Amino acid sequence: MKILITAGPTREPLDPVRYLSNRSSGKMGYALAEAAREAGHEVILISGPVVISAPAGVTLVQVETARQMYEAVRDRLEGQNAAIFSAAVADYRPASQAEQKIKKTGDTLTLTLEKTEDILGSARSVFGFTGYLAGFAAETERLLEHAQDKLVRKGCDLVIANDVSQAGIGFDSEENEVTLCLPDASPFPLPRQSKAVLARELIAFITQQASLKKLF
Ligand code: PMT
Repeated sequence: MKILITAGPTREPLDPVRYLSNRSSGKMGYALAEAAREAGHEVILISGPVVISAPAGVTLVQVETARQMYEAVRDRLEGQNAAIFSAAVADYRPASQAEQKIKKTGDTLTLTLEKTEDILGSARSVFGFTGYLAGFAAETERLLEHAQDKLVRKGCDLVIANDVSQAGIGFDSEENEVTLCLPDASPFPLPRQSKAVLARELIAFITQQASLKKLF
């Protein structure tokens, strides 16, 4: 089947040399892309700036900002059988970008931020996506409650709940430990494992679920 995957962080510029971002390394999303390719799927990987290389055989689309990732997803989602949103997209960006480097003038500096585009939240409601929709929920508290809320609010078939408060899993680590949240089933915890092994499990699960729903 055709799978679109988002990965990595976004960078939201403040001035020509500074930006707001987060600690996503892209490892989880790139592992998903590799596992999907290995399973014989056609993969589009839309990635924020990372230092790792894209797996062979995957179509890589590189973006920097949340707006660019939104546009890249919007332009490529049609015709995909499944989409997995693992990117850590900035929820807010500086409301304005200074043309010159901001000078150190006062003891404090107040930034005004504005909301970015909600890419996952737009998949169904704005882009009209009808394929299998999987999102992540990266949470530091009330993990399953927030994940269930995202599942319903964003029209997902699956939310992969990721406790990012624990050392050694989540952002910029080799391993991950997640719980699968589905609309009509109890949350299903998976063991802590390498992102490569987890990615293969997730791709196998998503392929089976998409096939049951006759989406490819
Ligand atoms: O990249 P790694 O270092 O390997 O780390 C992996 C990870 C921790 C980044 C990954 O496993 C993960 O949890 N990704 C989701 C990160 C996140 O920002 O989650 P969130 O709960 O803020 O967002 C919920 C969902 O909406 C996610 O699917 C996200 O991709 C999507 N989203 C969020 C904001 C936005 N403006 N647009 C979106 O599409």
